[in-house]
Amino acid sequence: MGVNVRGRNFLKLLDYTPAEIRYLLDTAAEFKRMKRNGVPHRYLEGKNIVLLFEKTSTRTRCSFEVAGHDLGLGVTYLDPGSSQMGKKESIADTARVLGRMYDGIEYRGFDQKIVEELAAYAGVPVWNGLTDQFHPTQMLADMLTIEEKFGHLKGLNLTLMGDCRNNTCNSLMIVCAKMGLHFTACGPKALWPEEALVNTANEIAAASGGSIRLTESVDEGTKDADVIYTDIWVSMGEPDTVWEERIRLLTPYQVNRKAMDNAKESAVFMHCLPSFHDTKTVIGAQIAEKFGITEMEVTDEVFESDRSIVFDEAENRMHTIKAVIYATLC
Ligand code: CP
Ligand code: NVA
Repeated sequence: MGVNVRGRNFLKLLDYTPAEIRYLLDTAAEFKRMKRNGVPHRYLEGKNIVLLFEKTSTRTRCSFEVAGHDLGLGVTYLDPGSSQMGKKESIADTARVLGRMYDGIEYRGFDQKIVEELAAYAGVPVWNGLTDQFHPTQMLADMLTIEEKFGHLKGLNLTLMGDCRNNTCNSLMIVCAKMGLHFTACGPKALWPEEALVNTANEIAAASGGSIRLTESVDEGTKDADVIYTDIWVSMGEPDTVWEERIRLLTPYQVNRKAMDNAKESAVFMHCLPSFHDTKTVIGAQIAEKFGITEMEVTDEVFESDRSIVFDEAENRMHTIKAVIYATLC
């Protein structure tokens, strides 16, 4: 049976079947080929989308904007200070207003419940550009990048090192379970994913041939990994006061040469970005001054090494987001 996601929301990967995810990945790969070959694809000319950002962004915002323009769409960007949403107008009212004007709505913000509520009222597809719980568009880019590198997804060992409770880890666990990868969350128990989500992921993995493992052991977690993945130690929306504890808990889980050397020889390093691999950022410099560390979740050596595919991954945000917009609006 053919796959059709027209008119659907894209709120979390739990809502999508492996066949639907496969379709989005194949569509993204096709769009990437077209873009590379200069083949125009203004398939959605005459439609309009709006991007609501309650948190900052480089990749996600630019991906939606470029993808939208490539598809011939009109694109409106609303930053945290420039809409009434939440402050003077409820989510439900905002959704009903925007749904009258736009063909699709992207939302980046805090609680997953907000994006779910927007979707319930908008009457047009709503896309999750990151919430505290999930980051589903990132996952499509990650899977496309891994597939480009290894030629397949099923059976690969992917290890997430560091904060195993955040949006990136939650989403990676689910997408790996759906697509048949062996997922390892490698971090301190205090930062492991919620048990209910792990149970759900285990059930999904049982059907796909994948698996889910949680470990505090870096040696065990990185052994034979095909992909070592990490994310920042303090996510957007978390208070600055947690830095000290995170640094203490997560320093043993830094992706460094030793961790990479324990993985397969062909292993790659991935990161959703942005990354604190040096002190060339305001926060990186502040942390260096306060805590005396110049690299956090990944060393500069690994980040800049040949094994690092983080910029392919970043580029693929655009191609995969284009696939989501196209497939749901066409
Ligand atoms: N990876 C990611 O979502 O990046 P931005 O925060 O820059 O959008
Ligand atoms: N976990 C990170 C992901 C950034 C893309 C955050 O939420 O800040």
